[in-house]
Amino acid sequence: MQIIDGKKVSAQVKEEVKRQTLELKETHGITPGLAVVIVGDDPASRVYVNNKKKACEFVGFKSEEYALPAETTQEELLNLVETLNNKKDINGILVQLPLPKHLDDKAVIEAISPLKDVDAFHAVNVGKIMLGEYDFLPCTPAGVMEMLHSYNIEVSGKNCVVIGRSNIVGKPMAMLLLHENGTVTICHSRTKNLAEICSQADILVAAVGRPKFVTADMVKEGAVVIDVGMDRDENGKLCGDVDFENVKDKCSFITPVPGGVGPMTISTLMKNTLKACRIQNNI
Ligand code: GUN
Repeated sequence: MQIIDGKKVSAQVKEEVKRQTLELKETHGITPGLAVVIVGDDPASRVYVNNKKKACEFVGFKSEEYALPAETTQEELLNLVETLNNKKDINGILVQLPLPKHLDDKAVIEAISPLKDVDAFHAVNVGKIMLGEYDFLPCTPAGVMEMLHSYNIEVSGKNCVVIGRSNIVGKPMAMLLLHENGTVTICHSRTKNLAEICSQADILVAAVGRPKFVTADMVKEGAVVIDVGMDRDENGKLCGDVDFENVKDKCSFITPVPGGVGPMTISTLMKNTLKACRIQNNI
């Protein structure tokens, strides 16, 4: 069994983005800029946003944080998005989800210019992903693919099972695996025989949001297990969707939580922002 080191792979990706960012500065005098918008005071979102800012600093991007109070209205948020759409030194806009309940996240996402949508959440970018002709890859699924590549894990012809069908992870994850010729099954809360389907997976991706949901009996001997979860166990300790301790010995590869998929999401965001900057400047 080998543990996939997301921190290490992410660091390599960020080093490469840093190198290319420096080159862009030297050759064109341009610095990529990312705006991160956070509404309210969700503690998990705060941690994610801080990590995104730190990564920007590391690779040499300009980053702007817009921390808005929980009472922000839809109109105020849409106005901010519009301002950022028009801001020349901002190449990427990320509105941290989830938003407070009174706000309409779909309308906010659709208001972001597709050229600056570094999350790849906008309908235009989602459609492009479906067609396999994308500028931006969705951060978490692309991070998972980068890990698989980094460990020379072949997807073509493999039985891939994704648990979860969210727009952020499950659906685009399935699509990226399909693009690499995996045979993909998406499981969700209404799936019958979920454990049995999972137990046939060569590559199992858990994106359910339930602590230790994937147990050893659901995992095939020698499977690759990717854990997208960021959950809290019964003692409030950070854990994933996979019961790591009991599952790990059955796997050929497994990602830990923390230190697995999480850091990869951020390194993809850096890649997307650099790409957005290049596209917007015709480079
Ligand atoms: N909330 C959880 N994951 C993400 C993400 O990748 N992007 C944004 N904007 N919000 C999130």
